[in-house]
Amino acid sequence: MREPISTYYGLLRRIHELRRPSLYVEIGVHEGHSLAFVQPGTRIVGVDPEPKVAEPPPNTTIVAQTSDDFFADPEALGGAAIDLAFADGLHWWEQTLRDVANLERHSSPDGVILIHDCNPIDEVTAARERTTAVWSGDVWKTVVALRRFRPDLQVVVADVEPTGLAIVTGLDPTNTVVFDRYDEIVAEIDRLGWADIAAADRSEFLGLVAGDWADLRPLVA
Ligand SMILES: C[S@@+](CC[C@H](N)C(=O)[O-])C[C@H]1O[C@@H](n2cnc3c(N)ncnc32)[C@H](O)[C@@H]1O
Repeated sequence: MREPISTYYGLLRRIHELRRPSLYVEIGVHEGHSLAFVQPGTRIVGVDPEPKVAEPPPNTTIVAQTSDDFFADPEALGGAAIDLAFADGLHWWEQTLRDVANLERHSSPDGVILIHDCNPIDEVTAARERTTAVWSGDVWKTVVALRRFRPDLQVVVADVEPTGLAIVTGLDPTNTVVFDRYDEIVAEIDRLGWADIAAADRSEFLGLVAGDWADLRPLVA
């Protein structure tokens, strides 16, 4: 039976309800709207240089740092492995790539990393400079980079409103490819532009799949 999910918040809620992660890390918490889906029993670490979370859920540590600074000394993790992570910080693809690589390094091998904004709407909302309310930036290139340079990972993008949610599984915390080949990856992927994604079959290019819980549930279970 089909179980369509329309928004990324709807998908995030389902994933929290299913997995009930012990440790959830969110990069980019802003006002804490996406933290509302975290279930009792989950410890939260939120990282954001300008957090505006008025009432954090119980068991939450908000670290007011950039993600790069946080991962230089991720004390708030307390040495625990991440079960579920959501990368929703600075919407520049190479920053998101670093965020995903750093999250993976501190994740459990059966953990899940989610990446917001991977199915862009148009050239303006996918530009690196923000000029619109809905802004995905060029985060879609992170998915292309992972699929090209980390074929051992399973990376799909759920087609949920407004701009998709990538699901990364098959994590290997010992893998150093992104760190070791970072300059090469940036040089190659930076050459991609809007024309490439506009012309692409997104199911092949991004691993775009329907936002349907019947299909997505097994990926994150
Ligand atoms: C789109 S908002 C996050 C929204 C939130 N996840 C939600 O769904 O309710 C992006 C956030 O990323 C934060 N941010 C910007 N640069 C960052 C960085 N280098 N590291 C971590 N967070 C960053 C911004 O301050 C902003 O609050």
